[in-house]
Amino acid sequence: MSASRSILLIIGGGIAAYKCLELIRRLKDRGIASRCILTKAGEEFVTPLAVSSLAGERCFTDLFSLTDEADIGHIALSRSTDLLVVAPATADLIAKMATGLANDLASTALLATDKRILIAPAMNPRMWEHPATRRNMAQLEKDGVLVVGPNSGAMAERGENGPGRMAEPHEILAAIEQALAGETRVSPTIGFLGRSPGGAVSSGQKPLAGKRVLITSGPTHEPIDPVRYIANRSSGKQGHAIAAAAAAAGASVTLVSGPVTIADPAGVETVHVESAREMLAAVEAALPADIAIFAAAVADWRVAEEAPGKLKKQPGAEAPALALVENPDILATVAAREIDRPPLVVGFAAETDNVIDYARAKLAKKGCDLIVANDVGGTGVMGGDANTVHLVTADAVETWPTLPKAEVATRLIAHLADMSKAGG
Ligand code: CTP
Repeated sequence: MSASRSILLIIGGGIAAYKCLELIRRLKDRGIASRCILTKAGEEFVTPLAVSSLAGERCFTDLFSLTDEADIGHIALSRSTDLLVVAPATADLIAKMATGLANDLASTALLATDKRILIAPAMNPRMWEHPATRRNMAQLEKDGVLVVGPNSGAMAERGENGPGRMAEPHEILAAIEQALAGETRVSPTIGFLGRSPGGAVSSGQKPLAGKRVLITSGPTHEPIDPVRYIANRSSGKQGHAIAAAAAAAGASVTLVSGPVTIADPAGVETVHVESAREMLAAVEAALPADIAIFAAAVADWRVAEEAPGKLKKQPGAEAPALALVENPDILATVAAREIDRPPLVVGFAAETDNVIDYARAKLAKKGCDLIVANDVGGTGVMGGDANTVHLVTADAVETWPTLPKAEVATRLIAHLADMSKAGG
């Protein structure tokens, strides 16, 4: 983790401002320095002292802005950083950004910057749904501003419910990491903009709300005897990231995971299995599902007969020969189900060459609706943090640039939500 990454955090005026203190602490833990601007309205909710104590440097406010111009001007402030983050992004700040107003330190820095901007909107649901905010958000999206949240839920105001809660600090942190890891490309797909035709926001907010998503991830271990097994190098990072992204998109998620060293994703029901046969049983038990994604690196073969006791070396005897039998193909088995085949079945394919041709052949052979073809010709995909994928369907191929696995997951889930909607 590089310690040289830094953000300029603009804290707007909303009850969610207090969550920024937690965000600053988490950023520090990740080696990301934050310099902060607190708007006048933000000062009503948190104090400059609390912010500067946590950030480890003075917090900028309008009060200081004139004197600060002497040593650090608003231009330098907005450019000597890797990313600008606005949290909470109030309706007022969003409107200023959309129209290019610059009448205080925060809005001036936002207009003067040459860096990317990530916003975490937070406001009352009616304000979020108002046509003016819809217009402003559409403009920001066009301008390439990244958005995380808002989430739906109870508001600080009594009895108010709906989209408008600021994303949680861990969600904003994940979006910051994605934005910092991003290439020069500006991705507006971090988080969900919550748009839908006609200006209503409720369903677009969580595009997989009400859907059941089933995901396999990680390797399988095929026992030879009670202490030995056949395995592969899959880390489970991509499958687990997809499970987390599906949960963030509002789905109810079951993750069937082979043995991995990474943590279970939050908000996901995780079933731990060892072998391919156990994985198939857990997958069948988790059906029905609206979308099934098979990201696990399932061992193609298992040992025909697992030895009941540890195999021992016998002096002078030959090495034991391991007879192998084929494992069930979990993806093909589920895709062929007559009764409760998930309407959208997605497979993965790791290929080093002829990526698209092999993926097309696999799509047909396994009977799935989409293959995420993983180009493993380069180094470091297995266990690494980045991935180059092609989305292959019967009649189209979509190629994505090399992206962090978390972003592949977020984009894939957005893509599947669209496919799922299109398919009814
Ligand atoms: N898969 C599965 N059950 C198996 C084997 C594979 O569910 N027993 C799924 C994987 O989760 C993945 C896809 O099938 O979605 C990969 O298919 P596979 O034929 O194993 O492709 P590769 O791993 O790319 O191997 P190969 O090219 O050698 O066929």
